[in-house]
Amino acid sequence: MAISKKMMIVGNWKMNIMPGNAAKLAKEMLSLVKGARTEIVICPPYVDINEVSDAVKGTVIKVGAQNCHWETSGAFTGEVSPEMLKKLDVSYVIIGHSERKQYFGETDKTINMKIKKALSSGLNSILCVGETLQQREKGTQEQTVLKQIKEALDGITAEAMMNITIAYEPIWAIGTGKTASSDQAEQMCGFIRSEISKIYDVSVAQGIIILYGGSMGPVNAEELLCCPNINGGLIGGSSLKPHDFAYIIQTADGKIGKEIY
Ligand code: PGA
Repeated sequence: MAISKKMMIVGNWKMNIMPGNAAKLAKEMLSLVKGARTEIVICPPYVDINEVSDAVKGTVIKVGAQNCHWETSGAFTGEVSPEMLKKLDVSYVIIGHSERKQYFGETDKTINMKIKKALSSGLNSILCVGETLQQREKGTQEQTVLKQIKEALDGITAEAMMNITIAYEPIWAIGTGKTASSDQAEQMCGFIRSEISKIYDVSVAQGIIILYGGSMGPVNAEELLCCPNINGGLIGGSSLKPHDFAYIIQTADGKIGKEIY
């Protein structure tokens, strides 16, 4: 399958950076990546979105959210809808991050509802999938990830897939400093692409952006981003350090346009 190497780097700030400091950090990053061709997305906490959106308006950096609700409005205390995010110039939303599953009861069903709502509201979704250490040790990582993908994408058309990115994040590699080896990451991202080809068709599979996430940083970015089936990274810790984040983006830039067979 010929995969055109489009690249995308997403920074997930998680619950870090206080309002008032977020625009400064975003501007510092912007000054380092001005000419980048890689798609760059920063996902700050909700309360920072307004200032980050203002700081990067009209630049190469797009703004994403870390979560959203599946309704437009209503009695959902503590939640934020895709329409609200759109108003703040948000164009991407991370859906189904493993920390949301682990601590906030996110399920494959709610992930599916959120993706559908995000799409109908005009937001691009970054769907997170990945196995636990136990599942990998049992050798069930592929069936785990496939189940997550099938349930998350239930009822999603091939056309809508143009607005979905998949991030493979082995849970055991998130924030732990343990990265999947490039072989493990490439194997799973290739598996995801071939399953997308079966669920949809080859052109959807060739076009979809598949990211790796889990302790990606300047030291391992090159090796991971060189893998044929990996189109970029979902970056936590290193997205809070402007020079590290910029270095990863520059590495991704070097892979753009390469046809991989
Ligand atoms: P990490 O986080 O880069 O700090 O491992 C990745 C993520 O959770 O998206």
